[in-house]
Amino acid sequence: MTLRLTTAGESHGPALVAILSGLPAGLMLDRAAIDADLARRQQGYGRSPRQQLEQDTVEVLAGLRHGRTLGSPLALVVRNRDHSNWEWGMSPWPPEGEPAGKGTKPVTLPRPGHADLAGSLKFGLADARDALERASARQTAVAVAAGSVTKALLAQIEVEVESRVVTDELEERIDEARAERDTVGGVVEVVGRGLPPGLGSYASKEERLDARLAAALMGIQAVKGVEIGAGFELAERRGSEAHDEILADEQGDLYRETNFAGGVEGGVSNGEPVVVRAAMKPLPTLMRPLRSVDLDTGEAGEALVERSDVAAVEALAVVAEAAVAFELARAAREKFGGDALGDFIQGHRAYVERIPWRTR
Ligand SMILES: Cc1cc2nc3c(=O)[nH]c(=O)nc-3n(C[C@H](O)[C@H](O)[C@H](O)COP(=O)(O)O)c2cc1C
Repeated sequence: MTLRLTTAGESHGPALVAILSGLPAGLMLDRAAIDADLARRQQGYGRSPRQQLEQDTVEVLAGLRHGRTLGSPLALVVRNRDHSNWEWGMSPWPPEGEPAGKGTKPVTLPRPGHADLAGSLKFGLADARDALERASARQTAVAVAAGSVTKALLAQIEVEVESRVVTDELEERIDEARAERDTVGGVVEVVGRGLPPGLGSYASKEERLDARLAAALMGIQAVKGVEIGAGFELAERRGSEAHDEILADEQGDLYRETNFAGGVEGGVSNGEPVVVRAAMKPLPTLMRPLRSVDLDTGEAGEALVERSDVAAVEALAVVAEAAVAFELARAAREKFGGDALGDFIQGHRAYVERIPWRTR
């Protein structure tokens, strides 16, 4: 038993779609909680006015009845309200009538740092829009909705996932960058608490929890670095100062006083909080564009300028939280199984009773 997530959707197309399969039957979902996560993704200092335009909400097309999962694939939809301005330009079928609205002219000046150039060359595109619409991080909206569902599943086994920005003076950096019509990146941290030891496996790289978390975070647009626990800093330390000593409390339950490992040893959760960080590069769409080459004429020019954020670090925290929640929930489904929610909870309980460990 495992969880699977497939998403589809372009930035200015009609909607974003996710199919989440492998959930147990009987999990109550709270629409307001999912919408609250969607709203969190849209907020944050430095985001563009598009976020006011969108006001994302989730629709469920399948897999849910009266708020309870059926154990069948859950189909989630987040509509792109902005599509109304792009109806001709992003029409899935050959558009009717005269060109109108946005996206009617081909994009031929690729933006450095975006998928515009590589995508156009790879797919043989005359209009880089065909690449950038999917490469855009807009699709993270529906991934956040799916992540919110997995957080509800994790809550059933008392696992909590939270995120925060760890970049200092982010707002000042954003204000300065905005004044100079530039962009900034930053670092976010996600912490998963309450996860028992034993999720993931050292047996193969596909099963290693640290590798899976790294892939989940690196799979998010603009993430260029990932750390687990003390991460890169561990390389500077001596072994005696880098590892977390094993202690037992009065009941014989095992615990650590430090968590340099970030809750994962040998690719397996060790019962301490899972702590991961992701570094985001400065956003590549610039209001003062960098040099580029027109792919149509071969002439030197300046990259495409399109409405864009100055920073999306706070949004990244929410997206990273969803990605980590999905990975932790997937590992929990693999370990505890169960078709009915009660079976899953029972699997977790029986296991936690067997081992000398408790949630702290
Ligand atoms: C939540 C979020 C919002 C983003 N918003 C923008 C944006 O407004 N403008 C932009 O140029 N890039 C934005 N990006 C980053 C681009 O999507 C990303 O840099 C681009 O797709 C190229 O992919 P890469 O950076 O992973 O190589 C955003 C990324 C995230 C995670």
